Amino acid sequence: MEQPNPSIFPHAVILPMPAQGHMKPMLRLAELLCLAGLHVTFVNSDYIQARLLKSMDVAAFCSRLPGFRFESLSDGLPPEHPRAGRLANDLFFSTRSVTKPLFRELLISLGKESGSPPTCVIADGLMSFAVDAAEEVGIPIITFRTYNASCTWVYFHISKLIEEGEIPFQGDKDMDRQITCIPGLESLLRRRDLPGICRLEEIENPVMQYYLSETSAMTRASALIINTFEELEAPVISKLGSLFPKVYTIGPLHTFLKSHIKHSSSPSVSSNGSLWQQDRSCLAWLDSQPSKSVVYVSFGSLVSLTRDQMMEFWYGLVHSGKKFLWVIRPNSIEGEEGVGQTPVEELLEGTKERGFMVGWAPQEEVLGHPSIGGFITHSGWNSTLESLSAGVPVICWPQFSDQLVNSRCVSELWRIGLDMKDTCDRLTIEKMVRDLLEDKREEIIRSANEIARMARESVKEGGSSYCNLEKLINDIRLMCLTN
Ligand code: UDX
Repeated sequence: MEQPNPSIFPHAVILPMPAQGHMKPMLRLAELLCLAGLHVTFVNSDYIQARLLKSMDVAAFCSRLPGFRFESLSDGLPPEHPRAGRLANDLFFSTRSVTKPLFRELLISLGKESGSPPTCVIADGLMSFAVDAAEEVGIPIITFRTYNASCTWVYFHISKLIEEGEIPFQGDKDMDRQITCIPGLESLLRRRDLPGICRLEEIENPVMQYYLSETSAMTRASALIINTFEELEAPVISKLGSLFPKVYTIGPLHTFLKSHIKHSSSPSVSSNGSLWQQDRSCLAWLDSQPSKSVVYVSFGSLVSLTRDQMMEFWYGLVHSGKKFLWVIRPNSIEGEEGVGQTPVEELLEGTKERGFMVGWAPQEEVLGHPSIGGFITHSGWNSTLESLSAGVPVICWPQFSDQLVNSRCVSELWRIGLDMKDTCDRLTIEKMVRDLLEDKREEIIRSANEIARMARESVKEGGSSYCNLEKLINDIRLMCLTN
């Protein structure tokens, strides 16, 4: 029998921004591509790879996915750098200067290997140096933006917001002023809902300039991938089609992978993609709680709280009288020495009776647990997608970047939650928890169930994301034949 020529194996080189919320969805995509028979080289930073080695069985994962391999490169920061909170942005500049030449060398060396040379690069929309590197080496590039479609569209209008004088905000900030110059989102966004960078006071700020240049570089890619689904954001997705030859909406990727594994005869291969060790003891605690009685609280991998903010959440949760499961990530409270101060007796008692705290949770399983009734989230896009796929209504406490847009979509467009943006007081938290679990539950849960249904449908055979992933895979195969 004629053997297939190994050089025709399509091979995607995937480069995420080295952060939890970027690496995880791109790893999911890598798994799906491998399961479809493609080869994947997944390029982490040395720092992320070292953490992944501690939190998951990387060897077992790779052995179950033929064609998959990890590579790692320096992100340019010293190991002790926190890469979170206010210092997370340092990665933008260090990767640009240090990772870029290393990535280019990697592409060249992969091209020299016998077997399957790279067919295309799939790079994070915040790693535009990959566009330069791929162009220099002559490999097609696809950009993956880890935000939703609406927010991605907003980023393409930042220059327009500057031209029209909407940003930077002057004098009286008038944060409720409507933003009307973004087509398709005219009646949705107020100043306070714009991405975090719009609150910077200087256009010349390096972070603002970074986002402007990254967003503009994305359009040099041959296609855009977004972890969303057509039924959720159809009008804006079609507008993005005016900027890219192809747009593949293939989300929710975590649901996609679960459904793929459920219907496949191959052994379960999925990684949880967590950079922290998951504390699974909370699942047993959840098992002992009544249906829809617990509010889950987590602010993702980057947000830090001040001690005052933490106390407001703590009082609000305890006074709501509801059960709560709270993720307090190591080092996520600023001025940590304050945390050691003894909280009042009332909080300790209330927490003992109704609360459970962990350092890092198996979030997808938690959100799918029958005792979860709501989620207080920072509105990162992964957390938002995970809750909307599980039909869990949310209270949004967005802090920066896309989170401010996501929370507006959640509360005003999809109506699956409440937005407590720009506030942090115990009375609001207490009231919103009660609203979510009782007073406003009926109307919110109706939309939440409908959106969860649409999310499930989109990844089933024949669904919109299912078909788009097939198109993406076929297009990569075609690139391989024509390269
Ligand atoms: C960041 C940005 O903040 C976010 O807005 C952007 O869309 C992606 O990059 P992050 O802050 O980490 O991400 O938030 P999010 O996107 O919600 O991702 C967090 C991930 O960590 C989720 O997939 C969630 O399931 C996981 N997680 C979080 C856990 O597995 N356990 C936890 O205890 C908390």
